[in-house]
This record gives sequence, structure tokens and C-alpha cells, in this order.
Amino acid sequence: MANLGVNVDHVATLRQARRGVEPDPVRAAHEAEIGGADCITVHLREDRRHIQDGDLERLKPLVITKVNLEMAATDEMVAIARRIGPDMVTLVPEGRAEVTTEGGLPAAQRMSALRDAVARLLDAGVPASAFIDPDPAQVDAAAEAGFTACEIHTGPYAHAFRAAAGDLRDARVDRELARVREAGARAADRGMRFNAGHALNYHNVAPIAALPGLWELHIGHSIVARAVYAGLRGAVAEMKRIITEAAR
Ligand code: PXP
Repeated sequence: MANLGVNVDHVATLRQARRGVEPDPVRAAHEAEIGGADCITVHLREDRRHIQDGDLERLKPLVITKVNLEMAATDEMVAIARRIGPDMVTLVPEGRAEVTTEGGLPAAQRMSALRDAVARLLDAGVPASAFIDPDPAQVDAAAEAGFTACEIHTGPYAHAFRAAAGDLRDARVDRELARVREAGARAADRGMRFNAGHALNYHNVAPIAALPGLWELHIGHSIVARAVYAGLRGAVAEMKRIITEAAR
């Protein structure tokens, strides 16, 4: 069964709306762990729009599962990761104008910069995962750059699922699911862990959670959105239940 990584960025987004102290993403991480999260993800963006450096510093010693730091492959971020020592880094492309991460890392096109960032992270004992589109060329490039894991972008699958109103017999859903499955299998063949995430929710997660060899799912928005009604602990527990059942 896949691990569940819970992204608490959106808790910080709400706090930053008033530049206040609550809700606190570190307390949210604790709630998520009680609900069954296997990993806590935060994205320290260049513009610090939600998670702040101090959040990461407080999070690291308090998280009892694992900290996954999402970040761009810049010198500044690599230096922060080397200093704080998260359990894993996920390298993502970052655009200032985007609302959330939009596409996968162009690993094949940015090979030398990525190889350098991965080596500097590994030198500090931090394994790196590449957030990439479900594209065989990107999987091969991630392997060549020395990544330990690939997080396969599930956005196109989620988009197809929504367009098909959740009908798994729809050819668009089938095609996008197959792309994720094949990219994940290729990553595993090349000795990397197969993670997946982006735009997954309570309705579309099961077919992804059932994919063979899946190591970890990273989910944020839908869980934090559900938490507004159900509380974070319960929202995480419900996602965990769906993932567990899908894996059976
Ligand atoms: N994985 C990566 C690499 C991401 O950038 C994000 C968004 O921060 C997620 C997973 C979670 O996506 P969502 O919030 O849509 O669940």
C-alpha cells in the first residue's frame, strides 16, 4: 500500500492571508500525523507566499514521520535543504505567476543543473525526487540525473477524470491512467521509487492508489479543503482509508 504524504501549504496560505499566527502549518502537520499521514510535505517557494523559512525550521524536529521539502532547484533552496536536512526533497519547476505547480520538471532539458543539485543534496544526506510529467524521456532523464525517486504528475489524469465525470471506462481517463502507470513502472525499472501526486482528491485517487509499485502519494488541496468541514485529522484518515482499500 502506498504511503500518504500530506501537503500542509494551504494551511499556511490561510495564515498568510492575514499575516497572522493561525492556522499554524506545524500544528496541522501534527494533526495530519494523528490522522495517519506517513509524510508531511511543505513547498518553500521563492516568493514565500505560504510556507516561511521559520515553518520549516520548526517542522523538522517536530514531525515524527518524514519531512518532504518541495522546492525549486536553485542555489538558495539547495543551501536551505542542506542546512535543515529534510528526509527528502522534491524538485519542482516554479513560476512566480502560477497558482500551484503547473507542469513537471523538464529534467531532460535541464540535466546539468539538476544533476548538480541532486549531487549537492545527496552529499548532505538528502535524497531527491523529481516531479515530472508521465513521459518516458523525463523518467530516463531523472534516472540519469541521479534522482532517488520520481513523483509522476497526476494532473492530466485528474483533468481527464473530471472531464469524463469520473467514468473509468472513458478512453481519456484510461489513457492518462496508463501514462502514469507506465511512467511509474519505468521509474521502478530504473531503480527509482515511484511516487505520484497533484490534483488528487477523494473521488479520483483510488485508481492511482491501486497502481502496482506505487511508493507514496502526495496530496494537499483536497485534504485541507475537506478539513474545513471535517477537521484535518478526519480528512486525512478518510483519504488513508480510501488508499488502503484501493490497494486491496
Ligand atoms: N506534488 C507536487 C510536486 C506539488 O507541487 C503539489 C502542489 O503543491 C502536490 C503534489 C499536491 O497537489 P494538490 O494540492 O493538488 O493535492
